[in-house]
Amino acid sequence: MEPYTTTHLVFFSPTHTSAKIARAVGEGIGMGRRIETDLTLDEGTSPILINDALTVIAVPVYGGRVAPIALQRLKRLKGHNAPVILLTIYGNRDYEDALVELRDTAVELGFTPLSAGAFIGEHSYSRPNMPVAAGRPDADDLQKAEQFGRKSLKKLQESTFPLPSFFIKGNIPYKPLPAGNNATPVCNDLCYACGNCIEVCPTHAIYLSADGSQIETIAERCIRCCACVKECPTGARIFDSPFTAILHEKFSARREPETFL
Ligand SMILES: Cc1cc2nc3c(=O)[nH]c(=O)nc-3n(C[C@H](O)[C@H](O)[C@H](O)COP(=O)(O)O)c2cc1C
Repeated sequence: MEPYTTTHLVFFSPTHTSAKIARAVGEGIGMGRRIETDLTLDEGTSPILINDALTVIAVPVYGGRVAPIALQRLKRLKGHNAPVILLTIYGNRDYEDALVELRDTAVELGFTPLSAGAFIGEHSYSRPNMPVAAGRPDADDLQKAEQFGRKSLKKLQESTFPLPSFFIKGNIPYKPLPAGNNATPVCNDLCYACGNCIEVCPTHAIYLSADGSQIETIAERCIRCCACVKECPTGARIFDSPFTAILHEKFSARREPETFL
């Protein structure tokens, strides 16, 4: 197949694990020119055209599906048949139908799937006293991601268009999205309103009170990604979810990345 010289990495990644896997896959592909589109804080609506680049799309799994906000942000992409490596990153519980959903979305956006992988990232709800996949992706995950990038490139070089379809684990119809709730992270007494949490919130759900003394959160906008919790310099931002204990108890056994080519 006509050689590509550019890799275009696209990701939505509030707590950075999807970004890390995307970049490791990009390393494995090893093309001289690499473009990054980080959609995490980008609420723009203008189309992003991708013509002649091997594209990598990485998104987190929320409730066994592609995080709805990530899907929304991806809709700006226009693929023009560009080959795409699809990546879902999940917190060691399961990715269920997310990878199939990402494939279907990418096809709708004009991309041609080349390969797909489900990798593990520290769970958004992981806490130091109740870790869930803490520290992942680790060195071993990143090495596997790089290797997967190399294999994907090799497949591309050895293929002719149209790329053959391949199996990806997941079901259609997708599992229903979990019911929403209004729980949000809150600040404790250690908060000195530095505003870090405001800057890292992908949905602008956090703001400073009128007198500048307190951090407020708009519950309807919060997606519970926990970026604010993980980025808080004093540990003042807390999300007390009952799921943390359940996940810690039931999903501590290490899962490994799965790839489909
Ligand atoms: C609302 C929500 C739902 C999630 N649902 C799942 C899930 O169904 N399965 C799972 O293993 N991890 C789940 N996670 C964990 C994330 O998929 C995981 O932490 C991922 O690494 C986050 O990606 P990011 O670092 O790029 O933001 C969920 C996280 C959040 C915030």
